[in-house]
Amino acid sequence: MDGADEDAWSAVAEGWAELWGPFADPVRRTLLAAAGVGPGTRVLDVGCGSGELLAQAHGLGAQAAGADPAPGMVALARAQVPGADVRVAAAEALPWDDARFDVVTAVNSLQLAASTADALAEAVRVTVPGGRVALASWAEGALNDLDVVERAVAAAAGEDVPQDGPLREAGGFEALLAGSGLTVVAAGLVEVPWEVPDDTTLVRGVLLGEDAEGTESGHRTVVDAARPFRTEAGGYRLVNAFRYAVAVTPA
Ligand SMILES: C[S@@+](CC[C@H](N)C(=O)[O-])C[C@H]1O[C@@H](n2cnc3c(N)ncnc32)[C@H](O)[C@@H]1O
Repeated sequence: MDGADEDAWSAVAEGWAELWGPFADPVRRTLLAAAGVGPGTRVLDVGCGSGELLAQAHGLGAQAAGADPAPGMVALARAQVPGADVRVAAAEALPWDDARFDVVTAVNSLQLAASTADALAEAVRVTVPGGRVALASWAEGALNDLDVVERAVAAAAGEDVPQDGPLREAGGFEALLAGSGLTVVAAGLVEVPWEVPDDTTLVRGVLLGEDAEGTESGHRTVVDAARPFRTEAGGYRLVNAFRYAVAVTPA
């Protein structure tokens, strides 16, 4: 799944929440701690998906708000944190006033914006001066077991192997934030394992967004490629990594 098509993301929202929703929790915890989120912090999560970060922030006592262009995702996020201010909106045009939040986060979503620079400018606009912008997403493919499987799927389909974008490389987020006048105060790498109990769940997760025929025809390729990550219990454990960076907005 890639691209910024809100209909496509809405169509897979339930599957995303079930198969991928919790897996980035370790980096969400790290990000919220590094951004100093606690009781009363006003947090906006951009590209909030099915609302897992909102739930964590709410659990810390923060006032959680979310934005996502996919109505299907927004519905799930609202259900995760009833009463949270979750709006249908893209990162490039956030429907909130200036300086409305103490912390703005984006996990695995900024790369989907048509313009990363516009999306970051919007995040900065709605953050108070001296507040924090906190970003996280996939590290480069070489650090992700999932990359092995995705390469096999691409090869079987005769497609180009997906390339790493600049935000995936070490220092990518830091360069983006510093280049927009923010001061980076924390950055790092967090392991995010993805675990599934069986072949069927593995294939559904890897091929999320494919129709029944595509899922059926890709089944063998996915299972064969994932063999090195098979557990004794018959499931799979793919170890991946996310990079994150937290920066202070200009006073
Ligand atoms: C890979 S999911 C990640 C969701 C969530 N942040 C998480 O960590 O689970 C990407 C999300 O970004 C949303 N998205 C797509 N284009 C976007 C844009 N231009 N601005 C903000 N979010 C976008 C999608 O609708 C989807 O919910």
